[in-house]
Amino acid sequence: MQLIWPWQDRSRRFSWLKAGTLAVMFVPAIWLIEQVAAGEFGPVPLGGMTYWSGFWATAILLAALAITPAATIFGWRRLIVVRRMIGVTALAYAIAHIIIYFALRFWNFAFIANEIATRLSLIVATVSTIGLVALGATSVDAAVRRMGAKGWRRLHSAVYLTAALAILHYLMSPGLFPDQFLLSGFFFWLTAWRVLDRRGQGTHAATLALLALAACLFTAAFEVGCIWAFRGYALTEIFSIYFTTILGIPPAWTVLALGLLIAAAAFAQQNLRRAPGGLDVPKLG
Ligand code: HEM
Repeated sequence: MQLIWPWQDRSRRFSWLKAGTLAVMFVPAIWLIEQVAAGEFGPVPLGGMTYWSGFWATAILLAALAITPAATIFGWRRLIVVRRMIGVTALAYAIAHIIIYFALRFWNFAFIANEIATRLSLIVATVSTIGLVALGATSVDAAVRRMGAKGWRRLHSAVYLTAALAILHYLMSPGLFPDQFLLSGFFFWLTAWRVLDRRGQGTHAATLALLALAACLFTAAFEVGCIWAFRGYALTEIFSIYFTTILGIPPAWTVLALGLLIAAAAFAQQNLRRAPGGLDVPKLG
């Protein structure tokens, strides 16, 4: 048996798509090291490192979930070859996150065991981690062969539950951050898209535009509701933030912009294909 390197395709030829994706997977880690070296996380950087390693583990997991919609909507079937790599990278960041957390707690495993068993956020995190490890361990070709395509697909649909638990852990941690709602909004889009795709609506541009709107409304309502419930600000005060950029761009607008961009790109691509002289017209000669 000969090893296939992460930058090679199944026939062991160099793949630009896989090599490029692999390089991108290192960017958050390099950014994190650079932030620590520049002293951006203060004299004890482990707190900041725990937050950002957890953030990137969750964001990369969502990126793995985004591969199927991207491949389906834009007809880029080749993209599927990088899905496994992105999923395994999410697991690697989650493991790094847990190791950083151990260091944050001075490797005091009696304290760590007690904290993990008593804090609901960490119980949720542990279940999510077990899910990620199970998905990672069964992502190799031999496991796919042993489990059969159907059994493997059934197990791997649990990736949505694993991601939901990772987001719940993020939401239950102390502090309220816009990024929590941004990732929740993306997750709403991804889950709703899967439901729509099962009904044959996953590539329809008008449906995608409505999905963008629904995801935006969900994100806004969720953020406003949480700030109102946990911070006690008046609703009018919270809504006013949505029409300024003092605290950065509100997550709901980012979710809307990205969702509409996807809908517009799907519309342009589908109409270009159908138009005379468009992409699908065979060349003469
Ligand atoms: C046994 C597994 C895990 C443990 C013990 C753990 C522990 C922690 C701890 C202690 C924090 C700091 C905030 C707090 O005190 O609640 C944190 C934050 C975070 N974790 Fe985890 N984690 C685990 C697994 C995961 C996994 C699998 C993910 C995502 C895939 C994740 C994503 C995050 C995120 C996004 C944050 C930032 C939230 C914040 O600091 O406010 N964690 N985690």
